[in-house]
Amino acid sequence: MTTKLLLLPGDGIGPETMAEVEKLVALLNEASDAGFEMETALVGGSAYDDCGKPVSDATMDLAMQADAILFGAVGGAKWDGVAYELRPEAGLLRLRKDMELFANLRPAICYPALAGSSSLKREVIEGLDILIVRELTGGVYFGEPKEIIDLGNGQKRAVDTQVYETYEIERIARAAFDLARARRGKVTSMEKRNVMKSGLYWTEVVTRIHRDEYADMQLEHMLADSGGMQLVRAPKQFDVIVTDNLFGDMLSDIAAMLTGSLGMLPSASLGAVDAKTGKRRALYEPVHGSAPDIAGQGIANPLAMIASLAMCLRYSFAMTAEAEALESAIAEGLDAGIRTVDIMRDGCRQVGTAGMGDAVRDSFRTKLTA
Ligand code: NAD
Ligand code: IPM
Ligand code: MN
Repeated sequence: MTTKLLLLPGDGIGPETMAEVEKLVALLNEASDAGFEMETALVGGSAYDDCGKPVSDATMDLAMQADAILFGAVGGAKWDGVAYELRPEAGLLRLRKDMELFANLRPAICYPALAGSSSLKREVIEGLDILIVRELTGGVYFGEPKEIIDLGNGQKRAVDTQVYETYEIERIARAAFDLARARRGKVTSMEKRNVMKSGLYWTEVVTRIHRDEYADMQLEHMLADSGGMQLVRAPKQFDVIVTDNLFGDMLSDIAAMLTGSLGMLPSASLGAVDAKTGKRRALYEPVHGSAPDIAGQGIANPLAMIASLAMCLRYSFAMTAEAEALESAIAEGLDAGIRTVDIMRDGCRQVGTAGMGDAVRDSFRTKLTA
């Protein structure tokens, strides 16, 4: 039986970083019996240019049939004038929503070699290992109504709606507690219960799930604004952070900078486990975007994309040894002083996207064949 990997490189630096992942999958196929069958399709602005939609129905079918999806990034100034429903980002949102990828895991790990690359002091981030669990298919991203209404008096009203139903909070809370159980057993739930009804209800549901199902674990509640402050003041106090779609988006970009660069943070977007097949839908993507300011120069950091492949091996295929080998190949390159420009320091060797990919691949090959 073959395993189908759907590659959606997207726009900007997406195709540049995905090229490195493609080479790593090819290496896995050579050096193991993984048997990954790769198929590539357009998404985002490049899909819009091709077919007038940011993700075609044919690509959605491929996504539904794939065993896992690797996603690059979408967006760029070229599509600024495109209708809201057809903008590149809408393609990614449709994939998340239609595939019901409700749990977005965004780990922030500070590699020892990068402890000096963060804008924060070394002692604040050295040894950092936290996991943000972002709710991904609900909240203000998808709530209705979502519209701009002409009031007819020269004024308009723009509306987005934050909505959470019980089951959505229950399932993301369970995902966070299950993940924390395999870590340090602590979950911090972040919301704004002081101003939002949805925050109040979020807290109530998370508290109940904890009391009824995970009472042996530690739960704390934090207002999301204060949580952002604590993330840069003393990030190592956290283990797992569970939060809604919008706060999770913002808090994970903040967490990215703790690790030295947005180019370092991978993510996994997971659906529920199918009771019949035991499989779950999954999409893996870096936290960063299409980086239009550096696209086309061959200098983007591919490590977030490569670490997303490691998450894919771990969560979709239980290839733990290979995932660990790939992660340690990333660390080895960094230890050897190999750097893309975003994490460059004095005394290190600067390489481009392909140079970084080569370094990881050489080290990964050695580990796979050892
Ligand atoms: P961005 O993440 O693309 O870039 C922010 C900054 O980080 C830029 O200076 C960029 O050069 C740098 N950066 C990002 N990734 C990097 C990497 N791998 N290596 C080196 N430097 C890197 O965010 P933005 O500029 O706010 O958004 C640009 C476009 O990307 C927008 O259209 C936005 O909607 C889209 N976006 C897409 C995704 C996604 O596809 N998942 C995520 C975020 C933003
Ligand atoms: C992310 C991105 C997306 C989001 C955009 C591109 C839709 O910022 O994955 O973090 O807001 O979720
Ligand atoms: Mn984001």
